[in-house]
Amino acid sequence: VTKAPVKQRTNVAIVGLGRMGALHARNLATTPATRLVYVVDEQSELANRIAAELDSKCSNKLDVVLADPAIEAVVIASPSRMHLRMVSSALAAGKHVFCEKPLALTPEDIRQLLTQARATRRLVQVGFHRRFDPDWMAARERLRAGELGRPYLFRSTLREREPPSAGYIASAGSFFADFTIHDLDAARWLLGEEIVEVQAFAAALSDPRFELPASPDQVVVVVRFAGGALGVIDNSRTAGYGYECAGEVLGERATARIGERQTRHNVELLTRRGAMRDYQLEFHERFAAAYRAEIEHFVGAVRGRLEAEATGEDALAALELAIAADRSLNACRPVTVDAVRRVKEADAV
Ligand SMILES: NC(=O)c1ccc[n+]([C@@H]2O[C@H](COP(=O)([O-])OP(=O)(O)OC[C@H]3O[C@@H](n4cnc5c(N)ncnc54)[C@H](O)[C@@H]3O)[C@@H](O)[C@H]2O)c1
Repeated sequence: VTKAPVKQRTNVAIVGLGRMGALHARNLATTPATRLVYVVDEQSELANRIAAELDSKCSNKLDVVLADPAIEAVVIASPSRMHLRMVSSALAAGKHVFCEKPLALTPEDIRQLLTQARATRRLVQVGFHRRFDPDWMAARERLRAGELGRPYLFRSTLREREPPSAGYIASAGSFFADFTIHDLDAARWLLGEEIVEVQAFAAALSDPRFELPASPDQVVVVVRFAGGALGVIDNSRTAGYGYECAGEVLGERATARIGERQTRHNVELLTRRGAMRDYQLEFHERFAAAYRAEIEHFVGAVRGRLEAEATGEDALAALELAIAADRSLNACRPVTVDAVRRVKEADAV
C-alpha cells in the first residue's frame, strides 16, 4: 500500500480487537490516509500481538490513548454495552468517532451522544457497512435514477452460519438492536423513506440458550414505509450453510435483486448427487470491500473531503425501529412509529 506522507495522514486509535476490531485495525493500518497509532484491548496479549503485526503502539486502557493530543479519531469496536461510555469519553477528549453498531443501547443515550458531538463539533459515524457495499449501492443508484419506478416491496435477508458466543450475545442488546438493525438501516437508506409501522415475529428453535421473547434465534419483521411500500426482513442466527445477506426492491417498472449468489468463487461442483457451491461463511468475507470503504469514508469525512454518512442520527433512527420491533414482539401486534420515529404507545397494552 502506498501511504500518504505522514503529515497528511489522520492519526487514529482503535479500541476492541475482537472479530470486528481486528478487521478494522488491519484496514486502518493499510488505508493510505490513516496512521494507526494505537491499538487498545483489555486483553493485553491480544493488543500486543496486533500492535506487533501492524507496527503500532498498544495499550489496555482507552483513557491513556484519549489523553494523547496527537490522536484525531478513534474507532470503537468494543462490546456494544461499552459504546456509550467509550464514545462519550472520546468526544469529551475532542476525538472524531467511528463506532460499531449499535451506537448505544437506548435512544436517550444516543441523543446524549448527539448533543455532545454537536457541542464538540466532532463527527460520529456508525458501522452500517451495507451503505458502502458496491452491490447495495448499485441497487440504490438504480432506484434513485428512477429505473425501478415506485417501490412496492422491500426484502432483506441477513443470516449468520452459527451464533456468536454467549458472552457476545449477553452484551449486545436485543436481537433487533444487534442484528436486525442492519436491515432496518438498509431499508431506510435504500428506499430513502422512513418506516412507519413494524410487526415482529420470532422463534427460539436451535438451542436451549435461545428463548422468547428476550433472545430469539429466528426473526421475521414486516414493515410499512411512509410512501406505502411494504417490507419483509428475515434473520437467522443459525443458517448452517453460510453467511448470507441478500435484498430486493420490487418496483413499478423493474425489480433489483442484491447479492443472490454469495459464493467464495465462481466454481460450481457438479456431482451425481447434485451441484455444490462454496457459500461464504463469515461476514468478513461477504463485506470485505464495504468494511474498508466505510473506514476510508470516515477518514475522508474527518478531513472534510466527504459528506458524513451513516451518522449518529441514522443510528438513532435505526435503534428506534429496533425498539419498535421489540415492543411489537412483546405485545404481539403491529407498532406504529411517527414521523420523528418515536415509538407510539397510542394503542399500548
Ligand atoms: N458491522 C458488522 O458486521 C459487525 C459484525 C460483528 C460485530 N459488530 C459489532 O462490533 C462490536 C464488537 O463485536 P465483536 O464481535 O468484535 O466482539 P468480540 O467479543 O469479538 O470483541 C470485543 C473486544 O473488545 C475487547 N474489550 C472488552 N472490553 C474492553 C475494554 N473495557 N477496553 C478495551 N477492550 C475491551 C475484548 O477483549 C474483545 O477483544 C459490537 O458492537 C458488535 O455489534 C459489527
